[in-house]
Amino acid sequence: MEYKFCGNSGLQLPKISLGLWHNFGSVDNFENATAMILHAWENGVTHFDLANNYGPVPGSAETNFGKILKNHLASHRDEMLVSSKAGHDMWPGPYGDGSSRKNLIASCNQSLKRTGLEYFDIFYSHRYDGVTPVEETMQALIDIVHQGKALYVGISKYPPALQQKCYDILAEAHVPCLISQYPYSMFNRIVETDTIEIAAKNGSGFICFSPLAQGLLTEKYLKGIPQDSRAAKSTGFLQVNEVTPERVEAARKLKDIAEQRGQTLPQMALAWILRDNRITSVIVGASSVKQLDNNLHALDNLTFTTEDLAEIEDILKDPALQMYKV
Ligand SMILES: NC(=O)c1ccc[n+]([C@@H]2O[C@H](COP(=O)([O-])OP(=O)(O)OC[C@H]3O[C@@H](n4cnc5c(N)ncnc54)[C@H](OP(=O)(O)O)[C@@H]3O)[C@@H](O)[C@H]2O)c1
Repeated sequence: MEYKFCGNSGLQLPKISLGLWHNFGSVDNFENATAMILHAWENGVTHFDLANNYGPVPGSAETNFGKILKNHLASHRDEMLVSSKAGHDMWPGPYGDGSSRKNLIASCNQSLKRTGLEYFDIFYSHRYDGVTPVEETMQALIDIVHQGKALYVGISKYPPALQQKCYDILAEAHVPCLISQYPYSMFNRIVETDTIEIAAKNGSGFICFSPLAQGLLTEKYLKGIPQDSRAAKSTGFLQVNEVTPERVEAARKLKDIAEQRGQTLPQMALAWILRDNRITSVIVGASSVKQLDNNLHALDNLTFTTEDLAEIEDILKDPALQMYKV
């Protein structure tokens, strides 16, 4: 594993982090989830990314992570980073969703209980809800740090127009925004417009989610939609109609370039994100140890020639490939 300082902070993140959004819930195979976490850990992945609502059922990824930690890694707490988030729909009524102080503080307390942790290393506002004043949400994050429930804070998916305000409020309170979490992949490049640069200018690290476009930037869909895939499972997050012939054809062409570089397609897709020095880490998802292991080997070749990059750009120039979604 390689580690990188997160923005202007003294905290190093692994260049590849593991996300527990899918495949770690109570509906999933617990032994498989355990094997993936242990494989990640044994290969230097010190950062595990959670949120209150990860499952299904919501909350169960945190519960399972807590169990795995207790059973296998309890003595290693100080060697790892665990992040969680609040802001998406979690419990009934007006306080279980959104970015209010009420939601963030209650949610953080619940997440600590589920994971069995005393504190999170990073706690995020998962999203801007379109209503709550940014001042209120940022103050909740600041107070979570002051209460000892998190060491650092981050924002996720905030519109570029609000990013600066978040960074300013947090900096003024001496709880700087450690990290900004956004979708970024070859098939979702919207953050290249300004989001990455605004974060960099403010000394915030940048961590990318869905770096493999939920599996589209792997070999998974090259021969149709497999039964065991995220698209086939109809979770609503990667829909069958998003597995378009254009994206599959682009993935096939990108795979050829990856092979010339001595890599698999997912390895090249991850390396391509990490080529930008402003990026701290990519959060990969996986449904098996084999996938995860494949992805971790992205670090074997992070260098791109000008020709590689030009060939990739040529494939990605079709706007129909872009997903622009979170
Ligand atoms: N802040 C936010 O709002 C937000 C939103 C989304 C995600 N996230 C974070 O980002 C993490 C990663 O998101 P993601 O799961 O969408 O990431 P991703 O890495 O783009 O997609 C992961 C999926 O791709 C497939 N895959 C991965 N490696 C593969 C390989 N080597 N070969 C074939 N298929 C492979 C698997 O699909 P199958 O399951 O079909 O096998 C896997 O579940 C999440 O767990 C979460 O922590 C944050």
